[in-house]
Parts: sequence; structure tokens; C-alpha cells
Amino acid sequence: MRTLTVVVLIGWTSSLLAAGPFERPARTPVVTAAGRQGMVVSNCDIASQVGVEVLAEGGNAVDAAIAVGFALTVTWPEAGNIGGGGFMMVAPSDRDVVCIEYRETAPDAVEADSLSKWTNRRHERMVGVPGTVRGFWLAHQRYGTLPWKRLVEPAIKLASEGIEADEFLAWTLNGILRQEDIQTDPRYAEFRRVFGPPDKQYWTAGDRLVQPDLGKTFTLIAERGADAFYEGPIAEQIVAQMKRGDGWITLEDLKSYRANHRPAIHAQIKGYDFYGAPLPSSGGTTVLMELRMLETLGVQKSPDYFWSMEHIHLMTEIMKRAFRERAAYLGDADFVDINPVVWSRDHAAQLAQSIDPEQATPSIELAGDIPVTRELYESPQTTHFSVIDENGMGVSNTYTLEASYGSCVVVKGAGFLLNNEMGDFNPIPGRTDTEGRIGTQPNLMAPGKRMLSSQSPVIIKQDGKVKLLVGSPGGRTIINTVFEILVQTLFFERSLEDAVNGPRFHHQWFPDILHLESDLSLLPEDVQEGLKQRGQNLSVRESARQGSAHCIEVDLKSGVATGVADWRRGGAAIAVKK
Ligand code: DON
Repeated sequence: MRTLTVVVLIGWTSSLLAAGPFERPARTPVVTAAGRQGMVVSNCDIASQVGVEVLAEGGNAVDAAIAVGFALTVTWPEAGNIGGGGFMMVAPSDRDVVCIEYRETAPDAVEADSLSKWTNRRHERMVGVPGTVRGFWLAHQRYGTLPWKRLVEPAIKLASEGIEADEFLAWTLNGILRQEDIQTDPRYAEFRRVFGPPDKQYWTAGDRLVQPDLGKTFTLIAERGADAFYEGPIAEQIVAQMKRGDGWITLEDLKSYRANHRPAIHAQIKGYDFYGAPLPSSGGTTVLMELRMLETLGVQKSPDYFWSMEHIHLMTEIMKRAFRERAAYLGDADFVDINPVVWSRDHAAQLAQSIDPEQATPSIELAGDIPVTRELYESPQTTHFSVIDENGMGVSNTYTLEASYGSCVVVKGAGFLLNNEMGDFNPIPGRTDTEGRIGTQPNLMAPGKRMLSSQSPVIIKQDGKVKLLVGSPGGRTIINTVFEILVQTLFFERSLEDAVNGPRFHHQWFPDILHLESDLSLLPEDVQEGLKQRGQNLSVRESARQGSAHCIEVDLKSGVATGVADWRRGGAAIAVKK
């Protein structure tokens, strides 16, 4: 707790003294905390503290996760949300891991090619029917122990009384507020009113963000439950916004929205029990394919091998193959038949056998029967948080508005942002291109269908107990961030702190580029050179940070949980102290 305070203060001081409104906060150490009585790790210290107080009061991990998820809507509005959706993996202490799936759905008005020529990603048309409130309600009904109202109350207070913007919040808000469309287009007038500082153009860390409309929205949710959002006054505000902005969502779309209680993707990896998010997230399935390929090929357990050129080459070839399968086969399983090869150990082994340890396979050669056109897109934000309670119940939750601040459309008078998740459907039927656009059939748009996600909240168990809670934001990079953390912890027995701290890389089949994270975690020159010689197309994007993984690891012998908050976009690990 003391470490956390020091880190946050250092960040603020330096930003107040030196950073301009658009300068990204400097790298800080990974924030860790340890304890036996419960732990919350999220993007913001205020939200983590909300969760810790719920745990200290006797709430379980699901209670705390709901309170954290609502609080992040106030404190981390670029991704924390009630206008988006996500995946909550729950490990009850005495039962199998499940997923509360609350992914957005397509409104009834769409057809497969409805958005094929659509370019404005910040528009009511890009909004999927939000799932978060229904999802949290379902989680509460199945697993909650404290009253619903108690879990919403912190968000009411934070929104109505206001919060101090930390340096990451000030930075991300300024990054949006400086953009020309946001500054000038009437569509974003409500965004400017709600998220602009009252008396100046840009935010400075330490300024107060007050969200009275959002406070009223949360009061309705506290008093009337999820129905206030899907059938009551909030639903009406959403539909009125759709009418003003030429969007598609109707009262009927909202009323018919359901969250689902689904079995997790479960398999044994290196003697551990892996539980990943099921479809409509590709996360669990794709991470599992990657882990199985690596298990087939094996790793040399020497410190020299770890993240060596040889190892990264293998990892990259694995990523390419897994992302090709993702594109070929994955979509909403309630709408399309999924080829079961994606869950087969033998299939993963066959894919692994096709890897040449000396030479990169060009992505185009992996296309098989997917026609590929030579010709970008996808933008980061999402947020992940992890919670464990003193009885060993764990929650690994990732949720999102899709892009940073989603569609940038704020529901007038209601104070919350709507997602732009419709962009996760394959936009143009039949068109898969070398820039990464996918056009395969399983993820085409249809009324009521859920768009394919990359969110990858994972739970690892050992001997029936929660060992790891892992996840991250980052669009398609999420899958590889989670893969890399699991490889480090499960295959190399590195500590979670080292695993979160280390450099990351990403290949997603198309574009045929191996993206290396830059900033202070750059891979050594000789490793980069060797990768190029093996035929990998390297790209080091200036200032690129991959993901923001807020994770928990439990030492099963001592029962001590270590919370690790990533340094990349802010974060706080706080242990319960009774
Ligand atoms: O569900 C998905 O896969 C995406 N909408 C996630 C977007 C995302 O992670 C952006 N953030 N960093």
C-alpha cells in the first residue's frame, strides 16, 4: 500500500512539473501488493479500493468485481463502462470455472453487409446493444452475496461527488479532446460537455472530474436493477440518442438483450488447468491453441533461451497460425457451427509441426482456402481487472467500449459512453486482406448476433485452486499478451511480476508484421537482427505499449496472493487488510 502511494505521487509530481497535456506519463515500476485476505488489481487506485472495501465487508470476489466494474465506469471512462460489454470468468471456490458472458449484440436492423462501406467509427451506427449491466446483474444473481445496491453505491458517490483525475486519466482525456472531430462535430457536443474540463481546454492531473448525470443513472440502476437500463428510463434515453444520431438500437433490442452463463474453455496445459473465455470471444480458444502448439514444440528451460531470437521466432510462428485459425473458424457459436478442430490437441500439434525453426512462413502461405486481397484498422481501449477473496474465489474480468472512449457518443443526459463494438464484426463479406481486415463467414453481422471478441480473461488452477488470474486490453494483441504472460509463468516459472514487466510482441497473421513493443522494454538489437534474418518482418512502433495486464498470482503453499498492476497505462494492486 505504501509503495502504491509513493508511485502515484511521483507520477503526479513529475506530470505537474514537466508534462504537457499530451505527454504520456512516464514508466513507473510494476505495482505489487501481497496478502491472504483478498486482493483487487485494476486500472485505478480508487476502483481497486472500492473492491477492497467490499471484500473487507464480507463480500465475495463477484461482489467486489461488480463494484469495481461500476466504479471504473466513473474513474476510467475510456474503457470502464456500462455502455459496452465483456467477459467475467468466475472461479467459485467449490465449483467449476464459468464465464458470465455479456458481449454486445447487433441490433435487429442489420444485415451482413450493413457496415461494409461505413467509415465513421464514432457514430451511433457502430454501437452494439450494451451488455455490462445485464451481465453484472446475472453475476450478482448467481454468485453475489451483498445487496446489489451496496455494489452500485460507490459509483454513485464517485460520479456525483467527483474524482481527482490521475495522470493517466488526464492524458487519455486530453488525447481525445484535442481531436478535430471531437472539438467541432455537434455529434460530440455531449462528450465535450461531460468530459471537458469546466473552465479550460485540457485536463491536468489533480483536477476534479464530476459526472452528475452518471450519478443519476447509477442511482436508477441501484434502485431498479438492470431493468432500469434495458426497459426503463435509461433505455428510453439510449433510444432517444439513437434517433438523434441516426443509430439502429430500439427499445425492443434493449429489452430482448440477455447475458449468458457459459462453460469456460477448459484444458490441461503443463499440468495446470487452463480456463479461458468461450465464444463469442476468440480469446480462450486462440490462447489455448497457442499454448498447445508451444507445448508440442517444447521449450528449453534455460535463461538464455527465454525471449531469445529462437524462442520469439517460434512464438511468432505459433501466433500466425493461431490467428489464421481464428479467422477461418471463429464466430458466435449461437449462430454458426464451429469446426471443432479449434479445440483439438491433435490439430494444434499438426499446426505446430508445420513450423520451420529456421525460417518464417509468410502469412499469405498460411491462408489455405481463405481468399486474401492485398491491401487497416483496429484501435485500442479495453480494461482488465482481477479479484480474489479470502476463500479463494477468483474473478478475471475484461470489458470494453472497443475503441478508447468507444463511439465517443455520450447518451444525452445519462452521462455514459456507448461502445463502437460493431467494428468487431467482419466488415466486408468475403474480403480478407493483407492489412488485417477479415471477411470470413463465421463472424459476419446478423441481428442479435454477438461480434467476435479477442478479450481473454483467463483463470489457471492447480490442484483445484486458483493459481493465476490474467487478462489485458489491446484488441487482437490481448490474445498474445495473455499468451506471453502464461508462457512465462507456466513454462518458465517466472514470477508474475517479471512476466508482466517484460517486453511484449505481437503477430496476428495479417498484416504479416511482428510488432515489437518499444518504450523501455525493447528487445536487444541482436535478437531483432536474428529475427529479421529468419524472415520476420519487424516493426518497432515508437512509444507503443502492448496491453495493461492487471493480474493476480497465488502461492498455493502459503496462500499468499500477489497482485501485479501493469505499468503501461496506470494501475493499482491493493490487498485487503482487516
Ligand atoms: O472485444 C474485442 O476484441 C475488442 N473490442 C477489444 C478492444 C480493445 O481491447 C481495445 N483496447 N485496448
